[in-house]
Amino acid sequence: MDTRFFGLISAVILCLSAGCVAPAPVDTKQDTVAAPPAAAVAVEESAPQLFEPGAFDSPRSCRGCHSAIVDAWSKSMHAAAWEDKWYQDDYMLGHRETDGATDMLCGPCHAPIAARTGLLPPADGSAFDDTSRRGISCDFCHTVKGVEQLYNMGHISEPGPVKKGPRGDGRSLYHEIESSELHTQAEFCGACHMVVHPANGVHIIDTYEDWRTNDYGQQGITCQKCHMTPGPGISQNPGRSALMGARRDNVAFHGFTGGGSYMQDAVGHTEQAQMSREFLKAAAVVELSDTVGEDGTLELTVDVRNVGAGHKIPTGTTYIRKMWLQVEVLDQSNTSVFSSGQILANNHVDPDATFFRLLFLDDKGQLTGKSWRAQGIGYDRRIPANGKDTEVYRIPLPAKGDYTVNTRLMYRSFSQATLDAMQQRSDQEVPPVESVEMASAQIDVTY
Ligand code: HEC
Ligand code: HEC
Ligand code: HEC
Ligand code: HEC
Ligand code: HEC
Repeated sequence: MDTRFFGLISAVILCLSAGCVAPAPVDTKQDTVAAPPAAAVAVEESAPQLFEPGAFDSPRSCRGCHSAIVDAWSKSMHAAAWEDKWYQDDYMLGHRETDGATDMLCGPCHAPIAARTGLLPPADGSAFDDTSRRGISCDFCHTVKGVEQLYNMGHISEPGPVKKGPRGDGRSLYHEIESSELHTQAEFCGACHMVVHPANGVHIIDTYEDWRTNDYGQQGITCQKCHMTPGPGISQNPGRSALMGARRDNVAFHGFTGGGSYMQDAVGHTEQAQMSREFLKAAAVVELSDTVGEDGTLELTVDVRNVGAGHKIPTGTTYIRKMWLQVEVLDQSNTSVFSSGQILANNHVDPDATFFRLLFLDDKGQLTGKSWRAQGIGYDRRIPANGKDTEVYRIPLPAKGDYTVNTRLMYRSFSQATLDAMQQRSDQEVPPVESVEMASAQIDVTY
């Protein structure tokens, strides 16, 4: 194996209660990369890489030749990763509660160029240049020469005239090109899509580890194969990646579509928001079966299957997102005789609904969605890749007759309570959170 590929290994020392041990190798093809710690550990990071401000190119200097890619990227959540007001609210709250201890945890993922050029701290971004403000941009990703740690942004940067990408056979007048296998691998994404609490090892975001150990990871179906195409199930995107570039069968799409339709709509990226809704719909199906007892009790079994995502649903910041079931039983005159998971007048969700998400435990043993307070996992109900989860409802039917049962699997990027609190803290208007239907099913039952 080409050892240059992953660069130097940092002195990551995992100190378990039994003493300090070397991190376990992650994978035979990644045999020198530090894997995320599995249990409570103290992670000692190597000194971060630091370059001169301006060492990374602005996305503006790529636009002249890569206009379609710059366009797609600028509507992605990567472009918004720092300026995103929902991120800013959470980040500043963490900053205040920990006296700034979280700054250099959050910053390297959400503003990697600022962190790598010494413009962060100060925490509020007041020293940032234009390039740093653009979140995770072209030149950060395309000057990555290796990954030394598969969590908490363990990328190794080599900013300069050489742009690293998946091919290596193109020619550009502006920059040199180097082929990089890493850019086609999930580890490239995983080094950010895996967040480990530095004080106690709690897995805050586990998308990469989840993927690595499930069917998709075992079969090598990478993040790029699903998230760098213009839509779910579209595997070919023919065209040119650059003006004067060669025609290619499949050009990597840079919208990095996920579930973020609410944020995208809020900032006017309506097309990208629509793509996000299609992604959410591609992830799951709902199946129903029923029996009605002698006494008129309807036993409704709802199976939710994850058929389209290469990881659990929801994934990522699942302590912020939420997925839940809406069930409604209507009689022949369309009157509701049972309902669960409905949206209330204040745009909150029925608190008794069946929720699929993850929440942490804080130091008082309370459930929390604030990542820096996490001491452990308090609630984890998510649907594994290619797996299913089942909920059974026992519903008393009021009288003999025919009924219709409607069931919907719903998704929100935030809870309305989070947005209410954010609005109070900052006085800024945030639109009410959108609910997206991921899947639905209907059956008729007779008592
Ligand atoms: C190792 C990289 C990494 C670190 C460190 C990190 N994040 Fe993130 N963050 C992510 C990724 C990846 C996502 C996207 C996941 C998703 O879409 O569900 C994300 C999403 C978020 C979001 C949701 C934003 C939105 O608009 O939906 C918030 C809020 C957030 N992070 C806050 C924080 C805070 C606060 C910290 C520090 C305590 C932090 N993050 C540290 C990688 C990181
Ligand atoms: C003067 C035009 C020009 C500019 C400006 C430019 N590029 Fe390129 N770039 C090209 C051409 C042409 C190719 C080759 C495309 C092909 O044939 O596939 C290319 C290819 C690439 C590749 C693909 C490498 C591979 O083969 O996998 C990456 C990555 C890349 N450029 C990044 C950037 C970044 C980042 C910027 C801005 C900092 C930038 N480029 C600015 C013209 C340009
Ligand atoms: C088989 C296709 C597939 C693969 C492989 C895949 N994903 Fe996804 N991903 C999806 C679908 C579909 C969704 C939408 C469902 C959702 O948001 O939960 C999604 C959602 C997401 C989200 C948004 C979560 C949210 O709701 O905030 C993130 C972040 C993400 N994926 C990252 C990754 C990363 C990182 C990898 C690789 C380690 C990966 N995905 C591999 C299909 C895939
Ligand atoms: C989050 C990291 C990330 C960001 C940000 C990013 N890219 Fe990429 N880019 C990738 C990866 C990964 C690939 C390779 C995907 C694959 O082929 O599997 C890629 C592929 C490319 C290619 C080759 C496309 C092809 O299929 O021939 C070009 C050109 C390129 N990127 C330019 C850019 C430019 C310009 C920007 C800024 C607007 C940008 N990238 C932003 C990660 C990124
Ligand atoms: C430098 C760290 C970093 C790298 C590398 C990175 N991501 Fe992300 N990604 C983030 C952060 C941070 C966010 C959340 C931004 C926000 O919402 O504020 C995010 C968000 C996303 C989303 C969520 C979009 C949504 O709609 O919710 C997807 C999908 C995604 N990334 C896929 C990828 C894939 C695929 C790769 C690899 C080709 C990748 N990311 C590489 C840090 C990274």
